[in-house]
Amino acid sequence: MAYAGPVLLKRIPDDPAQRKLYRYADYIATGGYASLKKVLAMLPEDVIKLVVDSGLRGRGGAGFPCGTKWTFLPKDLFPRYLAVNFDESEPGTFKDRYLIDHDPHILLEGIAIAAFANKISTSYIYIRGEYHHEAKLLEAALAEAYEHGIFGQKHPGTDIVSHCYVHRGAGAYICGEETGLLESLEGKRGWPRIKPPFPAVAGAFAKPTIINNVETLACLPAIVEHGAAWFKTMGTPSSSGPKLFGVSGHVNKPGVFEEELGIKMSTLIEKYAGGVKGGKYRAAIPGGVSMGVLGTDQYNAELDFDIGRKYNVLGLGTAGVIVMNDKTDLVVMLRNIVRFFAHESCGQCTPCREGTAWMHKILNRIVDGFGQPQDFDMLAELCLTMGAMPGTTICGLADGANWAVKTFLQKFPEDFKSRLKSRQVQGVAGAGVA
Ligand SMILES: Cc1cc2nc3c(=O)[nH]c(=O)nc-3n(C[C@H](O)[C@H](O)[C@H](O)COP(=O)(O)O)c2cc1C
Ligand code: SF4
Repeated sequence: MAYAGPVLLKRIPDDPAQRKLYRYADYIATGGYASLKKVLAMLPEDVIKLVVDSGLRGRGGAGFPCGTKWTFLPKDLFPRYLAVNFDESEPGTFKDRYLIDHDPHILLEGIAIAAFANKISTSYIYIRGEYHHEAKLLEAALAEAYEHGIFGQKHPGTDIVSHCYVHRGAGAYICGEETGLLESLEGKRGWPRIKPPFPAVAGAFAKPTIINNVETLACLPAIVEHGAAWFKTMGTPSSSGPKLFGVSGHVNKPGVFEEELGIKMSTLIEKYAGGVKGGKYRAAIPGGVSMGVLGTDQYNAELDFDIGRKYNVLGLGTAGVIVMNDKTDLVVMLRNIVRFFAHESCGQCTPCREGTAWMHKILNRIVDGFGQPQDFDMLAELCLTMGAMPGTTICGLADGANWAVKTFLQKFPEDFKSRLKSRQVQGVAGAGVA
């Protein structure tokens, strides 16, 4: 591990007073678009190999190797599309917004590199509906990029003209799931698709499509500039490179911080986020609420793509860390998380539609003081139904809800059980059953 300083946030100073928006001229003056120029003199397959060799893994949640995903595009099937996932609706996640607020061209350069490498004709930046400001910033940056020939030109050696558009969503979490995103992009209800076929084969408008997160693509200029070996000097063997960590909740200085993958959560909180606020550390969500919760004894967990295997959470997710101090009501916290999932479930799959609704009902009655003794086991059983049989739901939302609930129950059982017990002591168990 050898992190020498910001890569993605190199144009964004720590001091808020010194931050500014990097327009095209500022971006060029700080070395911008030099990597694109370098790439255009390479063979597309060599660019793909470079990305494979760098070990870059997707920063949108699943951590899938980026270069490997690109190799899934069928040979000789055109047109091909790129869908840039800027939906960023996972609670606790605001890293992509922070980057684009200051440095939109880093994304556009990443898109242009990916488009060249994969012979893509149209790139769509699918942006969360609520991000009005960022949509305007990107539209302005895109106009500059077109003016300077970054887009609107043929990829060298081909007849494929590279175009890029900003497409605004309408504010639904499920449109961040890659095939829900594609449906929404096509003007339909954002219902995730049954796979196969996978988007690389039949994606947007039934054409081969790559879907990548904003931060994933923003890593590309630096990989091209410094090489795959340099990228691998940061992070761990399975999780290379720098990473944006959004830290919120009970910390003194919430914000987005860049560090290498594998940093201990305690270091991130103490060195960057000003330490835990209002009490002692009790729990944290490592990367968006779908990932589950880290326990009190897991404060030093390394934040990399092995976190799921090592610390009994779903994964690193978006690395949007939500910190909870020892005064937090974890039952209320979980109720709020589950309310979100129940509201955002698209309703196509019975285990997800019914499971999240029942979890919400049960947690509501526990919070309201009407929890029944069997509610703890009932919640655990619902988790099993929703998560034990892969393939019973179309997308990962149900599994996210399942991991949130089961890890809170496993790591903080007494917080829940004590609520049920106290109700029984008063002799009114069963009241208020939904
Ligand atoms: C319910 C759900 C919501 C998701 N929301 C987002 C999102 O807002 N942004 C994102 O980049 N990926 C999101 N993902 C992950 C995407 O499906 C996909 O894995 C990702 O965009 C791929 O890009 P990457 O490989 O560069 O990470 C979500 C997944 C699920 C199941
Ligand atoms: S798992 Fe849930 S959100 Fe995903 S497709 Fe099924 S019902 Fe919709």
